[in-house]
Amino acid sequence: MTANEIRQAFLDFFKEKGHTIVPSAPIVVKDDPTLMFTNAGMNQFKDYFLGNKFPPYGRVADTQKCLRVSGKHNDLEEVGVDTYHHTMFEMLGNWSFGDYFKREAITWSWELLTEIYKIPKDRLYATVFEGDAKEGLPASAIALAKWQELLPEDHIVYGNKKDNFWEMGDTGPCGPCSEIHVDCRPDEERSKTPGHLLVNKDHPQVIEIWNNVFIQFNRKKDGSLEPLPATHVDTGMGLERLVRVLQGKASNYDTDIFTGTIAVTEKISGKKYDGSDTKEAIAFRVIADHIRAISFTIADGQLPSNTGAGYVIRRILRRAVRYYFSYLDYKQPLLTQLVPVLAKQFEGVFPELLQQSDFVAKVVKEEEEAFLRTLDKGLK
Ligand code: SER
Repeated sequence: MTANEIRQAFLDFFKEKGHTIVPSAPIVVKDDPTLMFTNAGMNQFKDYFLGNKFPPYGRVADTQKCLRVSGKHNDLEEVGVDTYHHTMFEMLGNWSFGDYFKREAITWSWELLTEIYKIPKDRLYATVFEGDAKEGLPASAIALAKWQELLPEDHIVYGNKKDNFWEMGDTGPCGPCSEIHVDCRPDEERSKTPGHLLVNKDHPQVIEIWNNVFIQFNRKKDGSLEPLPATHVDTGMGLERLVRVLQGKASNYDTDIFTGTIAVTEKISGKKYDGSDTKEAIAFRVIADHIRAISFTIADGQLPSNTGAGYVIRRILRRAVRYYFSYLDYKQPLLTQLVPVLAKQFEGVFPELLQQSDFVAKVVKEEEEAFLRTLDKGLK
């Protein structure tokens, strides 16, 4: 399946289960002082969870543009160095606002992964919250019972608050979660070291793909947990990782989400991407990743600047420039040339980029020119 088909299969599956498909919220957050950028699919539904607003639907699903480069969820330093963290990524999600809960959410995630996407069952692992005495939180008995119906005991891993209690930020909706991990190692390696020992251990081939969060509390400013008036489901599956698993690749950058921009970067720079850990290969990955964050954020209304969210975007852009300047030996604006490639690729799912492609390319070019001048002067 192509990435587009994989995304569509997710949306079709949840539509069939009674969900309304909604568009992604903008990546830039303007009306929530606790957030600069959308960092999870659930952000746009925060008020429904907290009971501040009544949701128009009981069940929704979507693909959300997310950015994890500031605040509580920040992956920037890993990006490009490894093969599975991103600045911008698409989070596929399904939500229940006071409607279904743990049993249905887990049952459907299993059905989608094993019956529609056909991931072999023996490669899947689930994590379950073990409870936290200090917070007064019990272990997740319902989630555990459901997983025990689906998986053998050695495919269930118990996790503490760090891995299995999801919080949006320092305050806000939160709750215990159950993650699904996939072991993509070759059989020979799998027979030597059982997968459950590698779950949540930063192994590049044993990766989390889906998080099922059961929103039950509001974390208040004083640090206490307040039970919410209703219980909700908030799930998030990283599209880039899912596509990599389904396309049988060892790196997210070898999927059709990134190969288009990498091929154009090869053409422009005259260098070849070899997927290794050299600075040159990292540069290709940094560029392929960062151009997405930069382009979509500008298209959603955030220009690079000297403060706040604009400064974060400027820094991401400059990180990419430093990589091509230093390791691809390319001294002209490069990122701007990738904007139309990306806009075309995402035409069907995020048309806002194609609609503003010329404007975005112009902003990126000006930023690149200014920073290249600075780099050049600095070197002299
Ligand atoms: N909010 C959870 C996460 O971001 C699940 O969507 O992981």
